[in-house]
Amino acid sequence: MAAATLTVYPEAASVHEGRLAIGGCDVIELAREFGTPAYVVAEDDLRARAREFLRAMAAHHGGRGEVAFASKAFPCTEVLRIFRQEGLAVDVASAGELHLARAAGYEPAEIIFHGNAKSEAELAEIARLGITCVIDNLDEIDRLGRHAGERLEVMLRVVPEVQTDTHHAVATGHADQKFGLTLDEARAAVERLGATSWALVTGIHMHIGSQLFDLAPYREAIAAIASLGDFDGYDLGGGLAVPYTAEHRTPSVEEWVAGIVDAAHELLGARAKKLTIEPGRALVANAGVTLYTVESVKRRDSTWVAVDGGMSDNPRPQLYGARYTALSATRADEPADEVVSVAGMHCESGDVLTDDVALPYPCRGDLLAVPATGAYTLAMASNYN
Ligand code: LLP
Repeated sequence: MAAATLTVYPEAASVHEGRLAIGGCDVIELAREFGTPAYVVAEDDLRARAREFLRAMAAHHGGRGEVAFASKAFPCTEVLRIFRQEGLAVDVASAGELHLARAAGYEPAEIIFHGNAKSEAELAEIARLGITCVIDNLDEIDRLGRHAGERLEVMLRVVPEVQTDTHHAVATGHADQKFGLTLDEARAAVERLGATSWALVTGIHMHIGSQLFDLAPYREAIAAIASLGDFDGYDLGGGLAVPYTAEHRTPSVEEWVAGIVDAAHELLGARAKKLTIEPGRALVANAGVTLYTVESVKRRDSTWVAVDGGMSDNPRPQLYGARYTALSATRADEPADEVVSVAGMHCESGDVLTDDVALPYPCRGDLLAVPATGAYTLAMASNYN
């Protein structure tokens, strides 16, 4: 099989005599041992991506660069343990994600806590552990103050008012939305925090959106936060796009890091400051492959190939119109000459994983592999049906 068709798979994916192997593990053996649907994650890829981000950060920013995994992309203790071993910090956005990070060994100083609706219990836990809290709204200042002891590090999440070219559900840089402080609110927050005895403002945070192909809005956003004045550190968020299909052309990790770090040096005078980035998707998406068993095939105007999972293990096609590809994991060397829709097992017509994928004459019992499913799948899985 031509290597090109495995471009969105883990690096160590291969096909021998038509059978897909991931990281040296034959998928038939995996399906036999764990059943299907199964999320398969290539540890080597997680480590390789983590190192790529760390290398790029060190090359462009030296010792004061930090890479924090946005754990919402794959909230799994074992994945977190691997990233901690590689030297990544972690971003959590709930007590649940905090619990996973702690179970994976993360120390409070390695954790950043986000959220636009933090509960009283979460604020108390942040203060108790001394975790850096990213303040999202003005109310949080007094609420957090009631729990804070002598000193607590905070950052301010700021909405830089930029447009990004991505699905509206994951665009977070524009003005009228639920996240963060406007530039004016941020100025007020700095003043109010300055008047407290407990708050140490360590910097400004922004996260302008997810699955972003273009670096220009980052530069625009960095210019906007520069108007807030001078801070000790900046957290520039995540957002790097990943390829879901072979047609996607995304910036490399190196290009993305260079683009935003150079902009921070130039526009924020941040060469000697602490700079943090928070990739989620780009660390995990292409390390994951989901395995499904074909349960039925109907040949009508279209060919409907129904598998034993679907929107309960991956709701992204329904939520964002996300497009995936699929491979016959046991007959990958046969000509893929039938264009089919791969549907899930759930009780609604919209439960379709991909609607124009070419497979070799699909049959009941086939094993299908859907690549690039490492990000925001397990995280958003449901109990439907
Ligand atoms: N930092 C903050 C504060 C975030 O809210 C996010 C993602 C990230 C970092 C990581 O962004 P990434 O590098 O993964 O783009 N469920 C959606 C994605 C939602 C992203 C939420 N925030 C999806 O499946 O596309």
